[in-house]
Amino acid sequence: AKIILRTFHVGNLTISRLCQSTVITAVNGKLPGPTIDVHEGDTLLVHVINESPYDLTIHWHGIFQKLSAWADGPNMITQCPIQSGGSYVYRFNVMGQEGTLWWHAHVSYLRATVHGPLIIRPREAYPFPKPDKEVTIILGEWWKDNVVDVDTQALLTGGVPNISDAFTINGKPGDQYECSKDMYRLTVYSGKTYLLRIINAALDHQLFFKVAGHSFTVVAIDATYTNPYTTDVIVTAPGQTVDALMIADASPSLYYMSARAYASSKGAYNNSTATAILQYNYNTSLSSSSQPLKPKASMPAATDTDTAHRFYTGPTSLVRPGNPTTVPLEVSTRMFVAFGLGLATCQPQQLLCNQTRGALAASMNNVSFQFPTSISLLEAHYRGANGVYTTDFPNKPAVLYDFTSNKIGMAPFTEKATKVKRLRYNETVELVLQNTAILGTESHPIHLHGFNFFVLAQDFGNYEESKARAMYNLVDPQVRNTVAVPAGGWAVIRFVANNPGVWIMHCHLDMHLPMGLATVFEVEDGPTSDAILPPPPSDFPIC
Ligand code: C2O
Repeated sequence: AKIILRTFHVGNLTISRLCQSTVITAVNGKLPGPTIDVHEGDTLLVHVINESPYDLTIHWHGIFQKLSAWADGPNMITQCPIQSGGSYVYRFNVMGQEGTLWWHAHVSYLRATVHGPLIIRPREAYPFPKPDKEVTIILGEWWKDNVVDVDTQALLTGGVPNISDAFTINGKPGDQYECSKDMYRLTVYSGKTYLLRIINAALDHQLFFKVAGHSFTVVAIDATYTNPYTTDVIVTAPGQTVDALMIADASPSLYYMSARAYASSKGAYNNSTATAILQYNYNTSLSSSSQPLKPKASMPAATDTDTAHRFYTGPTSLVRPGNPTTVPLEVSTRMFVAFGLGLATCQPQQLLCNQTRGALAASMNNVSFQFPTSISLLEAHYRGANGVYTTDFPNKPAVLYDFTSNKIGMAPFTEKATKVKRLRYNETVELVLQNTAILGTESHPIHLHGFNFFVLAQDFGNYEESKARAMYNLVDPQVRNTVAVPAGGWAVIRFVANNPGVWIMHCHLDMHLPMGLATVFEVEDGPTSDAILPPPPSDFPIC
């Protein structure tokens, strides 16, 4: 195992997209940001130097952060932000996990442009034939406006952000948009096998991804190996990753790669398509006059829930020695978490707020999560500070009702509070995640920091215990860090709280986080010295 050092200069970058030049926040002057490439077991030190005008944090999405909660990164959860002009070294071990993950800013809308791949290679071999080449495909979302302004404006006016202007593949929108001739191009050789590491870094959209004329064999999701799963379309929710093998077995030509929205709600969405080119390498160089055809991938309709659900539930995890696929059968804490959009009391500065009906808010179990402002939760937990949070996050919603109905009167107003759920070290937790439909049904990608979880079952409608249990996969369930809970449906997940610290669980649609679609697990220290959260590093940012 090695010690790997990286430096991230976060600063302004002027970049030209969609016929205009825009100043964005980026790492090392790149969009997407730099790839971090490590082997399982390595220790990573990333020196983040914040030369941007914004206070920010970086999160290492999907990394367990075993005994290194101080490096997890969600703003005001595990740290105060690195102030503009400040710096912080994130130090952590990459143990017991391999595959494709990513890093991103965890404050406001900055992750739109502050993100990049985090690839963990096995120390030995892949559990599938070695690919000839590995390629990262990072799918993103682009606004012409400053993204922090988009976020701020949405929060002031009630929580609905302007729809993005484009999707991107490796930072570029592609030729379906104006002034976007410069596309991402991947050159392939006939007969060779490519491992595509696909990351959904979009803020507010689930995405379909296809390569015309080619099919995929999925071998991993969220950096956990799966049994080989063959498909010609990949579906990802924000936060999720998919590793897929693709053989260059089509007739040599140019082919489109395309990404477009899977819109699980009836609300407005970005209906455009990002494109890139897959290009076979020829003996003779291509002249522009002899450009071969570029067949377009026929994309699923934006509302094609059947295709999305088939992909989300299709792959199963690969059971093999060393792959953590043994589902714990004894559960010590069971929770029913109903979440979605709803109404809360108006905040003073909110513009679109009806005094009797209230304002749009998002919640879990009727608690709209409030971020602390003067000290991070982790520091408050570590120091035993009083008055920052309470430990009464409820085990179930205040009222059980028909969660698939949109009758606003049925759900109580949400409360705004900083409530956490305390867990004993090493206990097994089972969560029913029930999506609610009060202000529209949509799939919410629920992401848990600090752990992977088993997805035992998921379906549409209201959760029913006996039906759900009959569906449980206790043999080879998916292991994920982000589950797209079906629109108007539920999922049951299980995890072992084997990591002391505080860990946020939230919707990975970026707008829903500041609206409160989150809660936090506070995991106590364990009995032995290898289960005690160490003190914060000396350069730990304070507020
Ligand atoms: Cu990828 Cu809390 O985030």
